[in-house]
Amino acid sequence: MREELLSPDQEPQEIEVEIGLRPRTLEEFVGQEELKGHLRVMLSAAREREQASDHFLFAGPPGLGKTTLAHIVANEMESELHITSGPALERAGDLAAILTKLEPGDVLFIDEIHRLSRAVEEVLYPAMEDFELDIILGKGPAARSIRLELPNFTLVGATTRTGLITGPLRDRFGLTARLDYYEPDDLRAIVERAATILGVRIDSKGATEIARRSRGTPRIGNRLLRQVRDFAQIERPESNGSINQDIANDGLAFFGVDTLGLDKATRAILNSLCTRFNGGPVGLKTLAISVSEPDDTVEDVYEPFLIQQGLLIRTPKGRTATPAAFTHLGLDPPKHNTGSLFEE
Ligand SMILES: Nc1ncnc2c1ncn2[C@@H]1O[C@H](COP(=O)(O)OP(=O)(O)O)[C@@H](O)[C@H]1O
Ligand SMILES: [Mg+2]
Repeated sequence: MREELLSPDQEPQEIEVEIGLRPRTLEEFVGQEELKGHLRVMLSAAREREQASDHFLFAGPPGLGKTTLAHIVANEMESELHITSGPALERAGDLAAILTKLEPGDVLFIDEIHRLSRAVEEVLYPAMEDFELDIILGKGPAARSIRLELPNFTLVGATTRTGLITGPLRDRFGLTARLDYYEPDDLRAIVERAATILGVRIDSKGATEIARRSRGTPRIGNRLLRQVRDFAQIERPESNGSINQDIANDGLAFFGVDTLGLDKATRAILNSLCTRFNGGPVGLKTLAISVSEPDDTVEDVYEPFLIQQGLLIRTPKGRTATPAAFTHLGLDPPKHNTGSLFEE
């Protein structure tokens, strides 16, 4: 496997451990049964025909397994994985350079594919559909275009925003799948699997507690497990490093994870919305500035879970906190939500 670029949503300090925890086969990938069923059929069929499989698009919030699935597709097809991302492919030539290096059956993973420029996307269309690459040689009247044949390859795209994928691009994928937040049982299985790999002893109540507070997200479950492990080792030496529910609770509290699993940054957004903006509605940009976060981070990373939990809603006028958000923060919901002065 060759990694041309690290996925931008990976936190650098996590990379080494994450590689060890990343499931390598469909069998090891926990949950998402329907999607796994589809992949199993499509990959087995392609393998039997000894062809590259169709192209896949995986969409969903960070940390749910999109990059992992790209690795699994390559692994199950026993082919080489090439990794790049939308923002890394600045010019059409950047993509052409990667495409012309592909061998038959290789898998090309484009992370954040919604951030491809239009010019690059246009090179991708004939490459995906007909395995052809049009190259323009020279400039002005003397310019001519030549067509190169590409080997059959599989494109795997990942995006946090399906809404930003253009119709023509989406139509060229053989399968588009949305990854959703994981159920508590699946997350517990993921935490227990990670504990086994890391050599951490944890009982089932301890794993349940960590899973429940992982915001439906495997990456967060793995991170909380490592934090609780460290907490047990240093702050609860009498436990001999084994984690039960009490230690999980204390460790999670120590690292600022609340009962719903909201971390400091997510709680800051909710808190700002409820206190500074009286519950909203307030525009995304204004809300993001109030917590010093980029607005697309608020929208892609923090908001989806708040929405899923029924704490925040998106309205045409802006973001609004629900009564449950006030209750969760220990505040009284306003009686008349008059809206905020900060609308955009
Ligand atoms: N279904 C799963 N089963 C087990 N572990 C998973 C699963 N999905 C994700 N993970 C873990 O979570 C981490 C983050 O997943 P990743 O594929 O990088 O997410 P994304 O690319 O969607 O942001 C992986 O390294 C892996 O350890
Ligand atoms: Mg990723």
